[in-house]
Amino acid sequence: MIENRKEEHIRIAEDQNVKGEHNYWDDITFIHQAVPEINYDSIKTEVNFLGKSIGHPMIISSMTGGVQLGKRINDNLAVAAEKFNIPMGVGSMRAAVEKKELADTFSVILNHKVPVRIANLGAPQLIKQDKPAFTDRDIEYAFKLIEADFLIIHFNFLQEMVQPEGDRNARGVLKRLKEIAGSYPVIAKETGNGISKEAALDLKDAGVKAIDVGGSGGTSFAAIEYYRAKSAGSREKMHSGMSFWDWGIPSPASIIYSQVGLPVIGSGGLRNGLDLAKALALGAISGGFARTLLKGADTSREQIEEEISFILRDLKIAMFLTKSSKVEDLKKAKFFMHGRLSEWPDIDDRKGR
Ligand SMILES: Cc1cc2nc3c(=O)[nH]c(=O)nc-3n(C[C@H](O)[C@H](O)[C@H](O)COP(=O)(O)O)c2cc1C
Repeated sequence: MIENRKEEHIRIAEDQNVKGEHNYWDDITFIHQAVPEINYDSIKTEVNFLGKSIGHPMIISSMTGGVQLGKRINDNLAVAAEKFNIPMGVGSMRAAVEKKELADTFSVILNHKVPVRIANLGAPQLIKQDKPAFTDRDIEYAFKLIEADFLIIHFNFLQEMVQPEGDRNARGVLKRLKEIAGSYPVIAKETGNGISKEAALDLKDAGVKAIDVGGSGGTSFAAIEYYRAKSAGSREKMHSGMSFWDWGIPSPASIIYSQVGLPVIGSGGLRNGLDLAKALALGAISGGFARTLLKGADTSREQIEEEISFILRDLKIAMFLTKSSKVEDLKKAKFFMHGRLSEWPDIDDRKGR
């Protein structure tokens, strides 16, 4: 049951260790500028997000809906999205497509002035599996349900392989993606395993408007599904969950690989405003936060608002100490890469500046 699955994902993500073993944002260090010569209070964080002016280069990443718990979380996240004037994604809308009575667990965000609303569907469901593929009408339904500005199609094939009930066919996804991207503004997104250069080129060719890298080092869906497989007594899937716990392309490397002429959203493992500044310095137009916001959003409006305000404050401090009076200036900030991140191929030209 999808609803149970969603609730299990949330509870496991909140309560268990589901992190990658190494967070690669720690392998980037800015060079501190002791003489910033700018006024902290005049630092500007407004940016243009795919044609829309928003308050900060930050997105609330796709997480939930489909269960009552998810409705409350979405409501709290939408309050924060309105307050800070930042885009918000909802979780996979498959649940609402299949059970219309769950629609309000997503459309609850329409009660607030979320500046950019992002719908979400899974790539595996675009093609025939054991179940039929989403129809054009299903896609239109999901998009309209939250009066979306963009449609995220998430690529989560590792998760599907570890999931007790996962979909296993990926053949024909690109062709279908191309059709959908002809009718909707699509953002292609990974969910914690990152986008390679080859994948980015395929996605560009399919006509997507942007890529959200969802790289490794943060939430591991192999880990989340490991715990579910454990409860379900599936030793086979538990085994795969363990083996692939740390699979994927580190988020910072994926931001570099995904620069194929499309806007890139940096996400996967972002914990604070300093991590966000690093993603922006690497060339991302914005940074996406998922699990970091989950517990706060589950707790209360006040809690999630406070946590986002801390993230945005730390972003501004990082900008101040790298002489960046606007977000664009971060691209000129001096930093270097080290440790395990620096061993990844084809990032040498960005190793230091
Ligand atoms: C509880 C939970 C549910 C998620 N559900 C979805 C989803 O439905 N669709 C999607 O595209 N990504 C989903 N994600 C993935 C996140 O959007 C994000 O790509 C991933 O968690 C990595 O970011 P993080 O390290 O900041 O958590 C979910 C993440 C969490 C923690």
